[in-house]
Amino acid sequence: MERTDYLAYVKARMPEKRYIHTLGVEQTAKAMAAHYGEDVAAAETAAILHDLAKYADVAWMEQIVRDHGLDARLLGWGSELLHGPVGAWVAQHELGITNEAILHAMCYHTTGRANMSNLEKILYVADMLEPNRRFPGVDDLRQMMYDGLNEVFEACVKHSLIHLISSGIAVFPQSIECYNDIQSSERN
Ligand SMILES: [Fe+2]
Ligand SMILES: [Fe+2]
Repeated sequence: MERTDYLAYVKARMPEKRYIHTLGVEQTAKAMAAHYGEDVAAAETAAILHDLAKYADVAWMEQIVRDHGLDARLLGWGSELLHGPVGAWVAQHELGITNEAILHAMCYHTTGRANMSNLEKILYVADMLEPNRRFPGVDDLRQMMYDGLNEVFEACVKHSLIHLISSGIAVFPQSIECYNDIQSSERN
């Protein structure tokens, strides 16, 4: 499958607004990958496919988690957190994607994790800062996009956690692990 096939695949599985977001993530992730010397083709595929499971049935996604040994901590967190790991599983097992860098970027695009690759960081940041995103502080974060991948990634992770905590929303353990990893790599 190539770009147009992947686009058609995801377009059939999401509302128009999410498809427009997907195109924005693709554009941003490719620009960031080119800027930071990462694999632009991998960034393109990961970005197009990253939200493919966003509107999948939650019970079905939880079944995938149980049947195929995905992180059991995901159970009960709803589609917001299930769609990354389950989307990666679908990409691997239904679309035949074997590139682990792509699969990992898809898997961790919402939660983050410790020891993220540059491609994982790029998709995380592109998902948050693509041109259609609107939230307080987004413009300040966008200005950092090409001034250092670790810096903009850290700013995005902190912004997400602060938003979750100040809204009284629970934080998935892997997101805390991601934050702690950033802080400990700064100490060393
Ligand atoms: Fe997502
Ligand atoms: Fe997304």
